[in-house]
Amino acid sequence: MNDIAIESILQEERKFNPPDQFVQKAKINSFEQYQQLYNKAKKDPEAFWAELAANELHWFKKWEQVLDWKPPFAKWFVGGKLNISYNCLDRHLNTARKNKAAIIWEGEPGDSRTITYAQLHREVCQFANALKELGAKKGDKVAIYMPMIPEAAIAMLACARIGAAHTVIFGGFSAEALKDRLVDAEVKVVITADGGYRKDKVVALKTQVDLALAENSVPSVQKVLVVQRSKELTQMQPERDYWWHDLQKTVSADCPAEEMDSEDLLFILYTSGTTGKPKGVVHTTGGYNLYTHMTTQWIFDLQETDVYWCTADVGWITGHSYIVYGPLSNGATTVMYEGVSRPSNPGCMWDIIEKYGVTIFYTAPTAIRAWIKMGDSYPNSRNLTSLRLLGTVGEPINPEAWIWYHRIIGAERCPIVDTWWQTETGGVMISPLPGAIATKPGSCTLPLPGVLVEIVDLDGNAVKTNEGGYLAIKYPWPSMMRTVYNNPERFRQSYWEHIPPKDGQYFYFAGDGAREDTDGYFWVMGRVDDVINVAGHRLGTMEIESALVSHQAVAEAAVVGKPDEIKGEDIFAFVTLEGSYSASESLANELKQHVAREIGAIARPGEIRFTEALPKTRSGKIMRRLLRGLAAGQDVAGDTSTLEDLSVLDKLREAI
Ligand code: WT7
Repeated sequence: MNDIAIESILQEERKFNPPDQFVQKAKINSFEQYQQLYNKAKKDPEAFWAELAANELHWFKKWEQVLDWKPPFAKWFVGGKLNISYNCLDRHLNTARKNKAAIIWEGEPGDSRTITYAQLHREVCQFANALKELGAKKGDKVAIYMPMIPEAAIAMLACARIGAAHTVIFGGFSAEALKDRLVDAEVKVVITADGGYRKDKVVALKTQVDLALAENSVPSVQKVLVVQRSKELTQMQPERDYWWHDLQKTVSADCPAEEMDSEDLLFILYTSGTTGKPKGVVHTTGGYNLYTHMTTQWIFDLQETDVYWCTADVGWITGHSYIVYGPLSNGATTVMYEGVSRPSNPGCMWDIIEKYGVTIFYTAPTAIRAWIKMGDSYPNSRNLTSLRLLGTVGEPINPEAWIWYHRIIGAERCPIVDTWWQTETGGVMISPLPGAIATKPGSCTLPLPGVLVEIVDLDGNAVKTNEGGYLAIKYPWPSMMRTVYNNPERFRQSYWEHIPPKDGQYFYFAGDGAREDTDGYFWVMGRVDDVINVAGHRLGTMEIESALVSHQAVAEAAVVGKPDEIKGEDIFAFVTLEGSYSASESLANELKQHVAREIGAIARPGEIRFTEALPKTRSGKIMRRLLRGLAAGQDVAGDTSTLEDLSVLDKLREAI
């Protein structure tokens, strides 16, 4: 565990009340209303969630028990039967939502599509039947490795419809990273596209799939379903590869939703941890559906006419919960954009807001910082008056970026919801309710109803107000991860043992440092483990180190996060070389390239420093604190008493 840098905690005093104009129409529009809801949930969480589950979701069969909590394993709505694709589609069809836009999609080359609920239902049913034809059935695992096109969401819903668990793998991951995940999840069918548009070029996704599957390296994979997107040339392997547009012509559009148990696997999503390979975070059906449904309503004050846009990729949990499942379960209109903002198209986000009259905009601090750099003239020259609410997610937001977002994008009219959560939590845990809770730039404010957060030390004792500590959650919530796929022991170790249970009280350890201020507001400071957050992407330093040492020139590697103005953190790698290699700029570039090939471009180190030795303790542990300090350009003379060889430090200083 890393030390918590208490000095670095933001001290920010400004407070913004929810704007009157917003409050007038908000569904939860006073602090008292929030408190009532919060206290009701706290008093009897099971009754609270049961009432919402009964009122807000469709169940084929009601549950017998709300919560079965055998720490650290929770089951919610035990014995209940439902289907999340039914809740996202079928139940809207007998309402005025039938012909409402479910997905508005903006393609990167400028093409676009609007899909109504009725059309989406039809297409999901067809896709589900195509999957069945390829042999996928309830209980199977299906991988989705796709660009941001409607078919990515359709594929997810189709899997859910037939009861096959999906594992979405971000399209920016390499063949190698893809293979690891396909193997771990025992995937039977892979859904991909010939190619996808990313930052002005086409990424040949199907080619990556072919590489991942080469030489039968993933024996569980039987079929590959390919969506045509870019017309990128691809070799279709007979008996294995099928075009979606071919199957679509023959399959029926009738596919009743499978009755799933509340605790049936809905999806596995891989995320980075401190040690080892990425872990498969397991989410199940009932609790996840309810929690993402409710939080979408609460956090975004969702109204029937909203045009909601979350800029994440469906490859991440944000895309799962707040592009696909949460919004669609509520019958909302969700915008999907295939591209990302970039220097060659600096106004693209604002164009889309203007074009579709987006009312709710949810994005990441790293993107906001990049827009600040691009200049105010881009947003200022577009009509953004449709916006009524803004959100952020993924990392702490610095107050400067918050204020810019508030003024330039929100015209001081839109509340900002800074939402803290994780892949593991399934849905947002701490966030303002925009019509009820005053915001402070840089604070995610207060926990949502049903969420019990405490800042504690490693013994589970609450720390004092304004003192830094570890963010822990003290009661199960419906969308919490159930386990690490195929590895319950790792689940226990990673999340439940850092802070040992005390008198029957269990603490979910989030891996973040935080403090609580005198108003009870939470200020998340960032990871306290060896996970770094690069432009909102979560990476384990150890994964990058393993990728580096897999190169023949590298003897040892230590990776740390270095503060970065735009990305939040950048990857800084210290490397020692094998005897016959010598340091050079071309080798540094080759190593960067190597990491990108092994994991994906998101893991490419920003800087590589060659050094003769790494600073280690007498027991041989790399002193990352020292390296982090060096990377950040700080004077690390401080506590070096445990350093084995002091001269290493001088050499490192020279290297920098
Ligand atoms: C980590 C989880 C779940 C959304 C996308 C990231 C950091 C997330 C905030 C926030 C400060 C945040 C934490 C967390 N984080 N949101 N609003 N303020 N930090 O999901 O990849 O699982 O990463 O992102 O460090 O532990 P993820």
